[in-house]
Amino acid sequence: MPFAKDVEIEFCDRESAIRQIEGFAERGTRHPVVVFGPEGCGKTAWLKQATELLREIGFEAIYVDPMRKDFTAHTDVKEVAERLAEAASEVVGMAQLKLATLAIDAVKWLVSKWKKRRVAVLVDDAFQAIGLDKAAMYVKALLGLVEYPPEGYECIVAIATTSEGLSRREIGRHRWAELTPMWNMSRRGFEELYEKLPEPKPRLEDAWRLTGGNPEMLARLYELKWDVDAVIVRLIRAKELTRDFVKRWRPHLERVVEDPQSLWEEDFPEGFREELIAKNLIVYNMYERDPRFWIDEPPPERDLELGIGEDVAWQSPLHREAVKRVLERS
Ligand SMILES: Nc1ncnc2c1ncn2[C@@H]1O[C@H](COP(=O)(O)OP(=O)(O)OP(=O)(O)O)[C@@H](O)[C@H]1O
Ligand SMILES: [Mg+2]
Repeated sequence: MPFAKDVEIEFCDRESAIRQIEGFAERGTRHPVVVFGPEGCGKTAWLKQATELLREIGFEAIYVDPMRKDFTAHTDVKEVAERLAEAASEVVGMAQLKLATLAIDAVKWLVSKWKKRRVAVLVDDAFQAIGLDKAAMYVKALLGLVEYPPEGYECIVAIATTSEGLSRREIGRHRWAELTPMWNMSRRGFEELYEKLPEPKPRLEDAWRLTGGNPEMLARLYELKWDVDAVIVRLIRAKELTRDFVKRWRPHLERVVEDPQSLWEEDFPEGFREELIAKNLIVYNMYERDPRFWIDEPPPERDLELGIGEDVAWQSPLHREAVKRVLERS
């Protein structure tokens, strides 16, 4: 698996998340499972691993990432792979939508036409490609597969991921999906990943405090030769943390930097909260930390150093650092 520009790292840890896939494979998903979590927490890596695992245990497994026009068709039905390849090569704009819809059609064909009995469809970053307004409809279509599957099937697994806080809300309004959160890596899992990185590298403790276990942040730090400032500056740009943004919300931002849970407890303007969600800076409304409701291990209840509150958390400590930096500089 490519980790950073010149480094390949094998998938590591996430043991509970892998066991959860085995559970889905036994029972099927009763609703489509929509996994949300901080950007870069490892959703894609996990979903790709799931695709391989499902294939190994005898599923026809279709993975699509419409945004990046990436797909894997683990099926001996050539027609399905061909149709996906064809869709991926369409002109920009069309390919994304086509791949997303084809993934659903592929499952229908595999079951009804090719009499496959165990089929999995895994859609990565589902809603960025098809648009927020169509997110709910898309999940409904996935639900149609699971709820009223073509005859003769034994087990269907449908999983989609999203890192967009707003799409999560759009989907949550309906009862069509099993919204399931996933967090950054656990301390143990992160350590395993860190150990695989070549020297020179900072102390494990420092890497953990900076990333909070977010593997993408670790990859960026690595690529920028552990220049923490450079990573922060890029985040500030990517998130458009402008002078104007800070001017509008300064006292509120200061509160949330200090303790993200304040966003839950105190009366902030709605526009402020929405902006933090839309910019993917925080995860708003975290679920109880019962492992049954999470993919892999849930985060701690509260860890102010990592920016985690009971109901609201910074996506990673570096996300919080970016905001802190603009507050100090503006
Ligand atoms: N369990 C893991 N083992 C090894 N590397 C991992 C693991 N999880 C994630 N990574 C690496 O960390 C980086 C970020 O992971 P990934 O792209 O899966 O995150 P994501 O949640 O899909 O991000 P986004 O929100 O941007 O879609 C990638 O380089 C990936 O290869
Ligand atoms: Mg991803």
